[in-house]
Amino acid sequence: MFAKITLAGSFVFFTVLYLLRGMKRKKLNIKGKVVLITGATSGLGKACAEIFYKAGCRVILAGRNSERLEKVKTELVGLKEGCSDYKPAILQIDLCDLASIPKKVAEAVSFYDRVDILINNAGQSYRGQVLETILDVDQRLMMVNYFGHVAITKALLPVMISEGGGHIIGISSIQGKIAIPYRTAYAASKHAFQAFFDSLRAEVCDKNITVSVLSPSYIHTNISINAVRADGSQHNVLDNSIAKGMKAEYVAQRILDMVLWKEQDVLLGPFHHRIACYLRPIFPNIFFYIMAKRALKERNEFDKEK
Ligand SMILES: NC(=O)c1ccc[n+]([C@@H]2O[C@H](COP(=O)([O-])OP(=O)(O)OC[C@H]3O[C@@H](n4cnc5c(N)ncnc54)[C@H](OP(=O)(O)O)[C@@H]3O)[C@@H](O)[C@H]2O)c1
Repeated sequence: MFAKITLAGSFVFFTVLYLLRGMKRKKLNIKGKVVLITGATSGLGKACAEIFYKAGCRVILAGRNSERLEKVKTELVGLKEGCSDYKPAILQIDLCDLASIPKKVAEAVSFYDRVDILINNAGQSYRGQVLETILDVDQRLMMVNYFGHVAITKALLPVMISEGGGHIIGISSIQGKIAIPYRTAYAASKHAFQAFFDSLRAEVCDKNITVSVLSPSYIHTNISINAVRADGSQHNVLDNSIAKGMKAEYVAQRILDMVLWKEQDVLLGPFHHRIACYLRPIFPNIFFYIMAKRALKERNEFDKEK
């Protein structure tokens, strides 16, 4: 009886707490905000560019390939629905060229004299066995998925602070929370990414800067096609898991909501993927057992490829 009352009491308490939290939150108006999106040429970055453009933002499309950036710009300008009053700007940037990043960020700021929202989205995945993976691949993944974003964020933070605030969104992955086999370089880079932004969030919270991290499961994009293999070559395959993944437009809408509602940490994906993130810290041995089984199964696939 006592247990039932305690359970019901806790349920009511947490429900009221949740509702009060919801009432306190205020939906923002982001019309006219300047949004810098890295990796805007493809997949999730491109979908973000479209959704923020449609929301009336001034978007800056960042990526390595000027031609592809121009193509995305033309597509956005051609959209019929009520969009931004400002044409998208283009920033050609390579996240692996760390030395160039402060100058590139200054160029981004010069377009509209500010950047209000930074979406650290660009990234590359990897498929391979540790024993066969050359160190260059590990370094490359850390550069694209971690150091490049750290460099952009550090260059932009003083600008955001002097403008009175801003919002930094980091696109991590479920693999920033858990590590699955044959993804060492990717999972390590995303864990570092998550830790950097978690630490930063607390440091800048008194400067009116919101730091959010999205950890999505599989999204249907070119990520597996563009992924790097153990020897540094391109994977060039649309994996089944990716083909069955969430639509990029759906994930981009979720990112817009994170900005509108100032959400700080969002895990997105099917229930069994999200539950794995809780299993890892609470029952680590069960998680390790499941991963070991998975590793053995997938090793056969690598062996077949040889
Ligand atoms: N798709 C998924 O299943 C999934 C799941 C979880 C998390 N994510 C994350 O979502 C983000 C977007 O990936 P996506 O799925 O949209 O993959 P994608 O279609 O392969 O797009 C990757 C983007 O990153 C850019 N990029 C790659 N290397 C770069 C570099 N050195 N400098 C600047 N830009 C670079 C690419 O631009 P260019 O090649 O044109 O320069 C491209 O625009 C990534 O951070 C990824 O880790 C994806």
